[in-house]
Order: sequence, then structure tokens, then C-alpha cells
Amino acid sequence: FPFENISNFSIVAHVDHSKSTLADRLLELTGTIGSQYFLHLIDTPGHVDFSYEVSRSLSACQGVLLVVDANEGIQAQTVANFFLTFEAQLSAIPVINKIDLKNADPKRVEKQIEKVFDIPSDECIKISAKLGTNIESVLQAIIERIPPPKVHRKNPLRALVFDSTFDQYRGVITNVALFDGVVSKGDRVVSAHTQKTYEVNEVGVLNPNELPTHKLYAGQVGYLIAGMKDVTEAQVGDTLYLHKQPVEPLPGFKSAKPMVFAGMYPVDQSEYNSLKSAIEKLTLNDSSVTVHRDSSLALGAGWRLGFLGLLHMEVFNQRLEQEYNASVILTTPTVPYKAVLSSAKLIKEYREKEITIINPAQFPDKSKVTEYLEPVVLGTVITPDEYTGKIMMLCQARRAIQKNMVFIDQNRVMLKYLFPLNEIVVDFYDSLKSLSSGYASFDYEDAGYQTAELVKMDILLNGNIVEELVTIVHKDKAHSVGKAICERLKDSLPRQLFEIAIQAAIGSKIIARETVKAYRKNVLAKCYGGDITRKMKLLKRQAEGKKKMRKIGNVEVPKDAFIKVLKTQ
Ligand code: GTP
Repeated sequence: FPFENISNFSIVAHVDHSKSTLADRLLELTGTIGSQYFLHLIDTPGHVDFSYEVSRSLSACQGVLLVVDANEGIQAQTVANFFLTFEAQLSAIPVINKIDLKNADPKRVEKQIEKVFDIPSDECIKISAKLGTNIESVLQAIIERIPPPKVHRKNPLRALVFDSTFDQYRGVITNVALFDGVVSKGDRVVSAHTQKTYEVNEVGVLNPNELPTHKLYAGQVGYLIAGMKDVTEAQVGDTLYLHKQPVEPLPGFKSAKPMVFAGMYPVDQSEYNSLKSAIEKLTLNDSSVTVHRDSSLALGAGWRLGFLGLLHMEVFNQRLEQEYNASVILTTPTVPYKAVLSSAKLIKEYREKEITIINPAQFPDKSKVTEYLEPVVLGTVITPDEYTGKIMMLCQARRAIQKNMVFIDQNRVMLKYLFPLNEIVVDFYDSLKSLSSGYASFDYEDAGYQTAELVKMDILLNGNIVEELVTIVHKDKAHSVGKAICERLKDSLPRQLFEIAIQAAIGSKIIARETVKAYRKNVLAKCYGGDITRKMKLLKRQAEGKKKMRKIGNVEVPKDAFIKVLKTQ
């Protein structure tokens, strides 16, 4: 069949603007357009935590449907997704959905699309995916407006891996887009990234379920099974080529780069092994989560996990709880900071000039570095105008720098800010939602690193450092963060027979302090008289409580207190 009639496309949309419903409708209708067209709908992850995966899926496409809700209009995620589409140089077909809604205002959304994306309003297709209204025009536009793939069937094979899943029985199933050549069952292919060779056991198309075929040709999108044992062998962005015809890999490969790290511990250490196996099973299907064993004196044996972003972390945690019934303690997330080392001797010692710090305990002292760096993101907020003032204050409090502000229609504003990633990893989204009554939307894209005045902050109990509470903070935030930790500790530390000083310190400088007053009453005072069994019971209960305590200097800290301070709210 001629590849002029192939269209590989994807649907991008803000959450709930209806990717799935539209995809189902298109599928219902495909029977009506005749068999000479091959339309491949490529699924994208949707959220920009996965922007690298989205960008790889998009590079397998020639066009996208940009779906916008006729009532809500353009949202932050629409903008972030459009940006990726634009970078991939794809044609975007704007689709305004949910025109059946009572408050739908497709004219207003058309104007927003023209203003923000510079797409003429007469190119917008207005539909109701729910009622099936005007879906034929979408199919027609895909055929007319999306160009055929630019491919070379005569060249040696080059197949882009843009997704992979793990199947218990069949092993790794990779989704591939063929840029050049042909691949057949029985071919020996090489992964450009790992340099491992595999024999192809099965190839086929997604129809939308897997349908085996004899061959896959350049221009087609399909799947391939080749005896890969786990998804780390089939990384998104990798190129497969024929063993007998080595070629240059396709451009743009990057290994998954975790940006948010958190400690994960079983609530009860007896559940360590079952949690370990649950984490292993989940990562079988998601090679972008990094897992390192870690242990904390207070929380026991656990792991330090790296995620692509906040949503990714949340989804992983939810799946552990829902699919594996695991109860875990997840510590406050941190971001990967960097330090540029100041001398040749140090560079030799660390074996690199710029070191990445994911664990506060490894934070190099200021005397060893020329500068510290922190990751930053370009955030987009779209909000009804009435909340703009409050949102600007929130962004300022998070050390963000305003880059742009435009009205996208009469009463909606789009704000762009450069945020330190660390400032949005905890509760930024919730604060934004609550101060805008749920109307503001937020999304972000990676924007590299910037210089930052970072310091290491210690928490002391009667002068002794609590190792698990060492934190890296920005100089300007040290006081407020230190104060908050001291207050939380104060609320969760039981009184003891002596006074406890809780202090936050940078080096030898104390920046915050709280005091827990001494506990005067003797527990045994309750046992007036001679009821010895009661006395024994009380002493036993105290001893059991102590097992869960950790002693720092002379202060006993229950596990609960650590959890309250370390846990994500
Ligand atoms: P995610 O999978 O969360 O990204 O959602 P999605 O973008 O795939 O959206 P989905 O297709 O699940 O639709 C979201 C909601 O909008 C559902 O409750 C749909 O029933 C509803 N919906 C979809 N299309 C229409 C429409 O044309 N009109 C109306 N009124 N509702 C619609």
C-alpha cells in the first residue's frame, strides 16, 4: 500500500477535555472512510511530567488533534502540549469539543486559539464527542490536513521505540514507528542504546488491539516483540536497526531523568519484603522510576525513589496502595541540586566537575564549591482575571520570576513564571486551586538549572544533630522552613523528664528554636497503693513504646514524630 495514504496522529488535550471519548468516536467511524487510508492514532501520556515520552510519541506523528473544551477554554496543559507539538513541527488541528454543553462558548474558544496559538479561527472544528456531532469533519481534516510521513522504504531499517509495556507471558512489547526500511519476523535487530541484539518473534499493527502481520514498513506504526526481558531494555527514544545493516540512530534520545526524589519506607518493617516485591513489579512496567536502597535510623530500611515529576510520584504511590495494598511512608520530596566544584583536586576526587546531590547528607561544604545550582521550570498559569493578584503573590512567595502576562480573552489571564522546581514540589498546586476556587490551571516544562544560594540546615535536639532531618534549603527560605520543622517537632514530641531544645541551625548559627517543657509527673504516681499487676502493665506498655523510639543524645523520639515531620502533607 502507498504511504501517501498513511496518517500517524495523536490527540493532545488538557485533562478531561476528552481524549478518550473522541478516540472512541473516531474508531467507530473509521469503517466509513474506505480501506485505502491507514490512520494510526498514537496514544500519548498527556501530562507534561512525561513530556519526554510525549515528545517521542509526537515524533512518530505528522499531526495532532488539539482538543479544547468549549466551556473551559484553553487551560495550562493545552498550552504545554501545544508547545511540544510546535517543537516537533507538527500540524495541529484545533478541535473544540463539548459544544452541547449549556455554557459552551465555542466562539470565545476560537478567539483564544487564534490569540494564543496563532491558528486562524476558521480552522477550528466544533464537535460534541459525547453526542457524536461532526466527528466526520475531524476524520476529513486528518486525511486532508495531515501530511504523509517522510520515509524511505529502500533504506536500511530505522525504527523509533516510543513506548513499551511488559507482558508477563510475552515479555516486553515495544511500540515502534518505522522511519526507514522494513522489519519482518525472524530479523535480527540491535538496540542502538544498549547494543544488544535480539531476534524478532512477532511484528504487527495496533488495530487498536495487537494484530500480527508479516512485516512492518517505513511510515507505519506498530509493535514488535523480540525477547527483551524488561522495559529498561526498550527505552523510549531508542532506535532499532538490523544487525546486518548498522545505521546512525534517530536523533533525540535521552535517558529518563528523574526530577523529584523521595524516601519510601514500609509503615511496619515486617512489610519490607512485600513492599519490595510490589515496587519491583511496578517498575517492571515503568523504567523511568529509579530505585536505590536507603535506610533511615528512624524509619528503618527503605528506598530512595526518583520520579519524573509530581504527578508521576503520586500515581506510583496510588498504584502501590490500590493494586498492592501497601501502606507506605513517603518523605517530603526533594529535587536534584548541583554543585560546581572549585578545585582540580576535588574534581579528581569526585570524578566530575559538577556533582548532583539527591541526598542532603552528601551536600558539599561551601568551601568546596564555586556555585550551587537548582532545577527550574517554566510554569504556565491560566486563570479568571479576578484571582490574578492573589496568584501573583503566591508565585512571588515561591521565589518565582514573572516572564509574561497576557489576556487570552476579556477575563482570562495567562501568566508565565520561572519557578525553582523545589518551590512547587510541595503543595503549590493545592494552594493555587484553593485560592482560585478551583478555576486556575497550572502546568510546567523543564527549564534547566539556575544559580542558587543553597545552605544545609541541621535540626538539633538538645544540641545533637538529627540526621534524618538534615535539609537543603535556599538561604532566603531557611528561617521559615526551619521554624516550620521545629514547630512540627514540638507538636509531636512527647514531654520528657527534662526540657528539650529544638533548634534549626546553619553551621553554628541558630535560626529557629522551640522548647518542649519538662514532664514533671511520674507515670508510676498513678499507681497509688500496692496494685502490683497494674504497675507491671504500665511498665510493660512503657517498654513497648520505647522500642519504637529512637534516642538522639538523651532525647527519645518516637517514630511517629519523625513521620509527622518527614511526611508529605
Ligand atoms: P483523561 O483520560 O482524564 O485525560 O480524560 P479524557 O481527556 O480522555 O476525557 P474523557 O474522554 O474521559 O472525557 C471527560 C469527560 O467529559 C467525561 O465525563 C465525558 O463523558 C465528558 N465528555 C466528553 N465529550 C463530551 C461532549 O462532547 N459533551 C459533553 N457534555 N461531555 C463530554
